[in-house]
Amino acid sequence: MTSVMEDVVGRETRHVVQTYRRQPITLVRGQGVRLWDSEGREYLDLLSGIGVAALGHAHPGLARAISEQATTLIHTSNLFYHPLQGQLAEQLAALSGLPRAFFCNSGAEAVEACLKFARRYWYTKKEPRAEFIALDESFHGRTFGALSVTSDEHYRAPFEPLLPTVTFVPVNDPAALAAAVSTRTAAIIAEPLLGEGGIRPLTPAFAAAIREACAKTGALFIADEVQCGLGRTGHPFYFQALGLTPHLVSVGKALGGGVPVGAALVGQEVADTLSFGDHGSTYGGNLLACRAALCVLHELVDGGLMMQINRVGRHFEKTLRTVAARHSFVKDVRGAGLMWGVELDRDAGPIVPAGLAHGVIVNRTADTVIRLLPPLVITEAEADEALGRLDAALGAMGGTA
Ligand SMILES: Cc1ncc(COP(=O)(O)O)c(C=O)c1O
Repeated sequence: MTSVMEDVVGRETRHVVQTYRRQPITLVRGQGVRLWDSEGREYLDLLSGIGVAALGHAHPGLARAISEQATTLIHTSNLFYHPLQGQLAEQLAALSGLPRAFFCNSGAEAVEACLKFARRYWYTKKEPRAEFIALDESFHGRTFGALSVTSDEHYRAPFEPLLPTVTFVPVNDPAALAAAVSTRTAAIIAEPLLGEGGIRPLTPAFAAAIREACAKTGALFIADEVQCGLGRTGHPFYFQALGLTPHLVSVGKALGGGVPVGAALVGQEVADTLSFGDHGSTYGGNLLACRAALCVLHELVDGGLMMQINRVGRHFEKTLRTVAARHSFVKDVRGAGLMWGVELDRDAGPIVPAGLAHGVIVNRTADTVIRLLPPLVITEAEADEALGRLDAALGAMGGTA
C-alpha cells in the first residue's frame, strides 16, 4: 500500500510543472498557528505560507465570511458594481492614506499595476518617462514587469530581455540613489522592509534620500508592501514608520488571509491620470476576495490585532534574541513586529529540515537568513513554544555544521 506522501509526490512528479523544490511533507490541516501533515505530525507555523495566513489557519470568522459569501455570490466581473469593492477600497484608504485602490489577484500583479500606472502618469503629463530605479536584493514578483525590477540574476537570466530601463542601486546607499535618479526617472520602487532580500529595513537616511530624490526630480515613489504591509511590522504599513509618502503602494499576501487578492493603492495625483480601459483584471476584487479581505481588515483594525501584534512582537523579539544569543553562528537579528530575520555566518538552508524535525516551520532566504513570518494572531505562549523548537533546531544544525 502506498502512503499519502508517496501518492501525492508521485502524481505531482508526473503532472505538475517542476518549478518548486518542496519539503518532503504533505500538509493537510491547520488550526490557528498549528499545522498537521498527512502522517499526523504537528508543526508550529512561523511562516504563514510566506506571510499570507495572517489570521492563522481555519480562522472561524474568515471561514464563516468566505462560506457565507460563497453561498450568496462569488463573482460578477468588473462589468458590474457589487457592494464590497468600494468598502474595501475605503478601508484601505483609511489605513494607508492613499485614497484609491485597483484590485488584482497577487503581489506581482499589484506591482505590475503600480509600474503601469507610473508610466501612465508621465504619458498623461506628455513627458513620457520610461526609467525605473530599484534596489539590489529586491524582490517584486515573477511577471515580466515585476521581474524587471527584481534584482536576483538567478530569477532574471532565463527570461531576458526584460524591461531595459531599470537601474539598480545598493540598499541603504543614499549617495547611489541620488546619483541614479534623474528627470528621466518615472518611479523609484522599493520594499520599505526587504523580505526576500534578507529582512532588511530601509534606514532613515535612505528614506530621506528617496524623499529628496522625488522632490528634486518629480519621480514617483512606489512602496512595495506586499510582504511587510498590513500590520506585519506592527505598523499598518512600514512606509509610515519611515515617514515616507508613496504615490503608489502594492499589497497582497496577508490581504485575503489566504484567498488570493492584491491591490495597487493609488494617490490622487496618479489616479487623476488614469482612464477607463487603462488596466483590468477579470477576477480582480471579486466578492469572495473582497469579503475575505474585509474580514482580515476588520480583525486588524476593529478586532484589536494591530495592538496585539505590537505587544506580541516585542515579546517575540526578546525571546528570539535570547535564543539567537545561545548559538555562536548567529550574526544578526533584524526586523520589526512579527517579521524577523536571523542572519547566520553560513548557509541557513539546513534550518528548514531541522525545523521540521523539531516541529516548527521556518524558511531560508538570501542564503544565510532564517525568515520568520508567523501568523499575526500568534500569542506570547505560542511564540515561546515555537521559538523553543527553533532553539532546538538551531542546536541540531550547529552540530551538523
Ligand atoms: C515584496 C514582494 N513583492 C511582490 C511579491 C510577489 O507576490 P506574489 O508571489 O503574490 O506574486 C512578493 C512575494 O514574495 C514580495 O515579497
